[in-house]
Amino acid sequence: MKTGLALLGCGTVGTAVAEMLLAEKELLQERSGQSLELKHILVRNRRRKRAVKVPSRLWTTNPSDIWADPTVDVVVELIGGLEPARTLALAALRAGKHLVTANKHLLAVHGAELFAAAMKARRAVCFEASCGGAIPIIMALTRGLVANDIQRVIGIVNGTCNYILTEMSASQRTYADALAEAQAAGYAEADPTLDVNGTDSAHKLAILAALAFGAKVSFSHIEVSGIHGLQDQDLKYGRELGYVCKLLAIAEKSDHGISLRVHPTFLDQKQLLANVNGAFNAISVSGHAAGQTIYYGRGAGPRPTASAVIADIVEASMGTAAMVFAGLPLLTRRKSMPIVPTRDILSRNYLRMTALDVPGVMHHITGILGQQGISIAAVVQHESSVGQYVPLVVITHEARDGAVTDAVKKIDRLRCIRGHTVRIRIMEP
Ligand code: NDP
Ligand code: HSE
Repeated sequence: MKTGLALLGCGTVGTAVAEMLLAEKELLQERSGQSLELKHILVRNRRRKRAVKVPSRLWTTNPSDIWADPTVDVVVELIGGLEPARTLALAALRAGKHLVTANKHLLAVHGAELFAAAMKARRAVCFEASCGGAIPIIMALTRGLVANDIQRVIGIVNGTCNYILTEMSASQRTYADALAEAQAAGYAEADPTLDVNGTDSAHKLAILAALAFGAKVSFSHIEVSGIHGLQDQDLKYGRELGYVCKLLAIAEKSDHGISLRVHPTFLDQKQLLANVNGAFNAISVSGHAAGQTIYYGRGAGPRPTASAVIADIVEASMGTAAMVFAGLPLLTRRKSMPIVPTRDILSRNYLRMTALDVPGVMHHITGILGQQGISIAAVVQHESSVGQYVPLVVITHEARDGAVTDAVKKIDRLRCIRGHTVRIRIMEP
């Protein structure tokens, strides 16, 4: 069967998709039974020199060429961001095309609108590449684990951050060098701030949690902190204490509702997620019948992402995507669920303050922690000269998240403290 395709965007990911569709056509046909015909590629600037060689008639800057072409069955949005991606995606659905997108930002913010438009047009939205790169996690949540009441999703879902943390720990690269390498490898977003401040992980968590719990999840429900405030010394202290730092996206369901959060987390170095390195992602999903399942693979980069995009194109082309889309309440008929504030979550914490080494400092800090009901499990301060600022690390016992937040605010206002306290939650195995 022949399927006509149009790409919206031909940047890092679009180039890899176009290359695979053209150079690996036979392999794709052999494995999927579909003949995937690239008909148009929409870009901003037709004159730009491109890394992929395609017949020049495919390039266009006019989306109407695509909507008006009856031989185009599937439109693949690889522009990124909210606009014009949203307007073009809606126009594609209204023109009767199936939509494939890798755009987690768009789905996290306007997913409900896109899904409603697709239902109205009797078309499908496919988004395997939006979370976990090459890992078929959307397929796992919507098909493989459909029999499960899912209680928890915990993932390393940003390849750029995981690459940076790995390089800083294992190769003693600086944060700036590691970020530049991640950008050069095609892992980072067009605006890498979205990676390092945790927003990209939160976009993905909004998508994964909605599918896992069948819940209406707004991106604004997620409390987010990124890796941009971390320093080499935090990872070093972590190692001393037997921990590895990962940026985790966490969604949990309890009797009180669902909790959603993204933050740097210390994991015991023997834990499985602690050993996921470089641009790899891993997502653990726990269901009432399956128990814990874990999905691992390349979470970013042009070809791993293209692998997931093309899987979606094949699903749309075979007709399975439209059937699943119309039939699954997880996708289009989601329930409202109460949100449990992060303030109510319990965890241990690593706190690194920069404190003036003078008498009474410890008394002030322990006093504030004590007032908030936070008990100290360990303190690390390497020997220094009196009267200098030195790093002071406190590990807390399990405490209410909100109490630690309030304590940190008070500590940061002390005259003997310089800058902001770095906080890393500790997740027990
Ligand atoms: P790029 O910024 O590299 O490419 C964007 C493309 O969109 C360019 O070809 C650009 O055209 C085109 N474009 C931008 N604005 C317009 C417009 N107004 N009209 C027409 N075309 C336009 O993005 P990426 O390839 O890195 O990312 C694409 C999507 O994939 C994003 O949603 C991203 O989050 C997602 N993603 C990325 C992954 C990765 O590893 N990089 C992994 C998973 C998902 P021109 O070339 O002419 O400038
Ligand atoms: N910038 C994203 C990341 C791309 O680094 O994970 C994959 O979604």
